Amino acid sequence: MGTYNIILGFLLSFSLSVATDHSPLQDFCVADPESRVLLNGLACKDPKTVKANDFSFGGLHLAANTSNPIGSSVTPVTVSQLPGLNTLGISLVRIDYAPSGINPPHTHPRASEILTILEGCLEVGFVTSSPENRHITKVLQKGDVFVFPIGLVHYQRNVGTGNAVAIAALSSQNPGVVIIASAVFGSRPSIGSEILVKALQVDQGVVNYLQSIF
Ligand SMILES: *[C@@H]1O[C@H](CO)[C@@H](O)[C@H](O)[C@H]1NC(C)=O
Repeated sequence: MGTYNIILGFLLSFSLSVATDHSPLQDFCVADPESRVLLNGLACKDPKTVKANDFSFGGLHLAANTSNPIGSSVTPVTVSQLPGLNTLGISLVRIDYAPSGINPPHTHPRASEILTILEGCLEVGFVTSSPENRHITKVLQKGDVFVFPIGLVHYQRNVGTGNAVAIAALSSQNPGVVIIASAVFGSRPSIGSEILVKALQVDQGVVNYLQSIF
């Protein structure tokens, strides 16, 4: 019985440890943008040609333009911007929010996210999976930290009087993002409106309107 539990524990910890970006098998694998090799991740540059700038990104002190319908802007620092992140399982983003701006409900298919408020005041939340669909929400001040578990739908809203700024770290070099409204109403080609009418229990006109916006 004891042996069985040890084996089960080992199998569980193994399956958890491979549930996110894989551990590197070498010091680094700086992404080679020229490579035509298709693999899970990006091919490595020749380590001899790697430079300090491959591990660096500049400009995250700069506020992004939030003059858009949602009043927020995300500046990513993933493997696409910082090739040295390839195979390392981490990345980060800066998020700027205008007063009343939101980062709309979205998920990251490959990463948990830990967000810290540098300026302002944010209402944040996520929703657990069905059937509970429990909404976990909190108002955060400068210096507060909040975690969004991998895969769950989450959002932020600026509830302060001025601009807000957050930095969020993500547990993938390429966390991905699924913005709920864009995925459901803005896919190309569209999801059949008869599907959305039944799924959302609304009139055809509402679906047509939402599909025209997204
Ligand atoms: C911010 O973006 C808006 C909308 O695209 C644009 O009209 C405006 O000029 C931009 N502001 C700055 C400072 O770049």
